[in-house]
Amino acid sequence: MKKEPSTGQDRSSSSYTKKLFSPHLKKRGHQRSMTMEEYRALCAHAQDHAVEFWGELAQRNLEWERPFTRVFNDQRPPFYRWFEDGVLNASVNCLDCHIGTDIEHKVAFHFEAEDGAPGQVTYRELLDRVCRVANALKALGVKKGDRVVIYLPMGVEGVVAMLACARIGAIHVVVFAGFSAKALHERIRDTEAVMVITANVQCRAGRQLPLKAIVDGALDMGGCDHVAHVLVHERTSEPWNSVDGRDGSYKEYVDGQSSFCAPEMVEAEHPLFILYTSGSTGQPKGLVHATAGYLLWAKQTMQWSYDIHPDDVFWCTADIGWVTGHTYVTYGPLAAGATQVILEGTPLYPNAGRVWQVIQKYAVSIFYTAPTLIRALIKAAGQDKDYAPEGYDLSSLRILSSVGEPIDPTSWMWFYQKVGHENCPYIDTFFQSETGGHMIAPIPGVTPLLPGSCTLPLPGIAAAIVDESAEELPNGKGGMLVIKRPWPALARTIWGDDQRYRESYFPEELGGTLYLAGDGAIRDEETGYFHITGRIDDVLNVSGHRLGTVEIETALIGWEEMVAEAAVIGRPDENTGEAVCAFVVLKHPIPTREEAEKIAHVLRQRVARDISPIAKPKDIRFGQGLPKTRSGKVMRRLLRSIVRGEALTQDMSTLEDPSILEQFMTTL
Ligand code: PRX
Repeated sequence: MKKEPSTGQDRSSSSYTKKLFSPHLKKRGHQRSMTMEEYRALCAHAQDHAVEFWGELAQRNLEWERPFTRVFNDQRPPFYRWFEDGVLNASVNCLDCHIGTDIEHKVAFHFEAEDGAPGQVTYRELLDRVCRVANALKALGVKKGDRVVIYLPMGVEGVVAMLACARIGAIHVVVFAGFSAKALHERIRDTEAVMVITANVQCRAGRQLPLKAIVDGALDMGGCDHVAHVLVHERTSEPWNSVDGRDGSYKEYVDGQSSFCAPEMVEAEHPLFILYTSGSTGQPKGLVHATAGYLLWAKQTMQWSYDIHPDDVFWCTADIGWVTGHTYVTYGPLAAGATQVILEGTPLYPNAGRVWQVIQKYAVSIFYTAPTLIRALIKAAGQDKDYAPEGYDLSSLRILSSVGEPIDPTSWMWFYQKVGHENCPYIDTFFQSETGGHMIAPIPGVTPLLPGSCTLPLPGIAAAIVDESAEELPNGKGGMLVIKRPWPALARTIWGDDQRYRESYFPEELGGTLYLAGDGAIRDEETGYFHITGRIDDVLNVSGHRLGTVEIETALIGWEEMVAEAAVIGRPDENTGEAVCAFVVLKHPIPTREEAEKIAHVLRQRVARDISPIAKPKDIRFGQGLPKTRSGKVMRRLLRSIVRGEALTQDMSTLEDPSILEQFMTTL
């Protein structure tokens, strides 16, 4: 172990926020994928010859059962179709295509259980497992186009379940295993799923959480009559409650199956999966991703963002419940034939040293994580030298990367210097559940790096910043991030709600053709590099988890006897990026502090119950009424200033009752 704890606070960020870092790649004769001039030429080609550009990428990246003859169909904007007469299968593109090559017997996953017990699976073995599960699904009546909900802990089994669905043309709906029974229920109902795949328990942070019991709770809420079967992976020997005729274990259904399953070939536009994400209004949105467009981008971005090579060991810490896990644990790395590390539970358990141990043990070369985890690592390293990266051999690393939140320049530099020794490009990737894969990210070895910036769009991605009248803004002027031209990886629609899709992402106010990301952004004056400044709608980003304020408000107001009104706002938080703050108006007189604490506890429990513990408000403030304009609109900007502790400089002449602000100054 090495001596000095590092804190990341040892230099002020301002001295390097403007400094560009060389894009060099260390290592082993890896050729640069292109030069900066070639990158610019490729972007220009993608703009001027989009059909040729995308057609070529789709041919090069994917194995087609029947090649497409038509690249793009824009007859019904914004519902674009890509490669539509082509036919393929996603699991073939992730597994079968490697059989008979050097990759067949290569490790696909090094798996580490929470207790540190290691395991590994080769591509050949993974294909066999996928086929067995796929055959079990078929034997239970699951057909092409059916929806299968996957509610599994992080592990190889989740990946297998996703690919088994893809193999038979079923549409997977992965629900993060931290979501509550109610959230799970909504997703099962909305998709009319025919099956749920789960585990008896989830091992996380030293605890065993009963997943199957949560599934039972969800199914008991009613309206889930389509669910004919629940398939249970027995992670431990812990008993679970089995409903006759509906539930069965892997042992019962999967183990005896053949390891051959002929893939169901599907049209390019066939939905590969539905993934729910929070929007600014109402229920979460079930984003529908199309097989070919999504997969081609998953694979291509592994090349551009990660310069992936056969000898790389790739570790993405994301859970398969999020888009990053879909694209950069399941589809992208497997399509690219990479060796990966996958960890059960959280990489910070039993302590932050586990991250460095895992990198050292498996000789991880590409490490992809979230700014929240980086901040936690910085903190832990500052507190205990055993958890500082200096104590470990991290020389295998060649690329560092993050996603999900803006990364502040100080944390960027800490990671770049202390972990990467200024030898590993830091790839800050901007993307969203909607976009399927990376949108704005530096290309390692090509794009000069700027701390805190995701730099420039990948070729084919026409990113721009516009004002409210859809006018493109010059560098240095902040506005709304949009994508000006269609690209194949964008989610095709919101499950069952084309209109909401159009209104959310292609609003008429911006002319109806620009994709509105929902983020604010600004381009650097000199370099034109993008800085993402955060959501411009009512979506919060807590530890990289996307949460809708309306969903949280709905959970709070759900306590009908107690709560009259609620408004939820985000405030900056040094650990989680953003924290949830709730302003609550009770139906009773303002409580004493003691009562208020009890009520706040129940409110947090209700949010955990209805959504997930991630969504629990950190701060709760009680008052007699929300600050509203005379026309009845909640003054959210004012609430934002309150939670940030800013002086209230807003015009309050329209505020109906200025005295109510006083009460909201106290936080619980
Ligand atoms: O606000 C942006 C933020 O995460 C949002 C997308 O969340 P989700 O669909 O859950 O996908 C997260 C993982 C891709 C975006 O609208 N975001 C994502 N990446 C970055 C980011 N904010 C700043 N910098 C990033 N690199």
